Amino acid sequence: MLTVLGIETSCDETAAAVVEMDQSGKGQILSNVVRSQINEHASFGGVVPEIAARSHIQVLDGIVEQAMREAGKDWTNISGVAATAGPGLIGGVIVGLMTAKALAMAADKPLIGVNHLEGHALTARLTDQVAFPYLLLLVSGGHTQYLLVKGLGDYERLGTTIDDAIGEAFDKTAKLLGLAYPGGPAVEKAAQKGDAERFSLPRPLLNREGLEMSFAGLKTAVRTAALKEEPVSEQTVNDLCAGFQKAVADVIENRSARAFQLFKDRYPEVDPVMVVAGGVAANDAIRTRLASVAKNHNATLVAPPHALCTDNAAMIAWAGLERLNHLSSKNPNILEGNGKGDDMDMSPRPRWPLDQMSESVLGFGRKGAKV
Ligand code: KG4
Ligand code: ZN
Repeated sequence: MLTVLGIETSCDETAAAVVEMDQSGKGQILSNVVRSQINEHASFGGVVPEIAARSHIQVLDGIVEQAMREAGKDWTNISGVAATAGPGLIGGVIVGLMTAKALAMAADKPLIGVNHLEGHALTARLTDQVAFPYLLLLVSGGHTQYLLVKGLGDYERLGTTIDDAIGEAFDKTAKLLGLAYPGGPAVEKAAQKGDAERFSLPRPLLNREGLEMSFAGLKTAVRTAALKEEPVSEQTVNDLCAGFQKAVADVIENRSARAFQLFKDRYPEVDPVMVVAGGVAANDAIRTRLASVAKNHNATLVAPPHALCTDNAAMIAWAGLERLNHLSSKNPNILEGNGKGDDMDMSPRPRWPLDQMSESVLGFGRKGAKV
């Protein structure tokens, strides 16, 4: 049995969680504390990095204490400390990673620096024991990409947005229509009362080969349509939100169909599974569309519960557990926490692509990289 404390501070949630893994590799969440900073950023219409970092510093110790208390664990029962080491807002990542290093050092436990995206990628193995390989659609405020998850630490990016992330497009659309921050839930709510057919909005790159996506033009089309309607009524806002959301869902449906085909070509003997993760995966209209495209391809869609789709520390603890489990099977000494073989010398990374291909091309944010 391994038990890991996870810490997440890469954006505007301060989170800590304790998760355990039994000998069969099955996980259980013992505590999962998330404190959102939404109210601190709301009046700015988006996350202010300096405010985020300061707020993480103020509350993180208490959040960690609460996670340990709710899990009923003390340091003797903890096998390791995992923290997001990137990608994300650098001030916040520094706060979380340095706190984790201090805790690991004081308690003589190994430190695991986790890629935030790997946390999202592996959540479905915690909730649904999904086996490798599988498809991952990661849709959040900062990322929109299809990935092939081949194994632990073995990811291949199949396609990505060439401009805005979907969550970002939801947030910007909400802002230009005068809706509250964060925009995703606000646009979804307004869309329920709207007519998706009233405005004709573009579906960028829909007919292009491959899995690339683009959302900036769609957002601009919403702006242009809204300007023509000035002064914009509540019904117009609802109709624009409905049209925008439907266009996004159409693009996702089209790209996901291609992703399933690609998976089947690559792994003809494996029943295809697509995992959807990231904050936008909380959108029910998008989930419904994904479920129908999966059904049409005799595939399974795995969508973790909403609270585990948005940023949280249980996913970081779980990614840490998967790594610690793998490392300790090769080198049991790592569990002694003497800093040998763990990530104690890891630097916080603002950028950190999951797949090795983009990493070697970009090299950005890597320790010692020339950028
Ligand atoms: O994964 P996440 O919590 O944070 C990162 O970006 O890493 O995702 C946050 C994003 C925001 O852009 C937010 O507007 C979007 O997810 N989001 C939604 C919904 N709930 C959150 N987008 C569409 N519909 C939703 N219901
Ligand atoms: Zn995230």
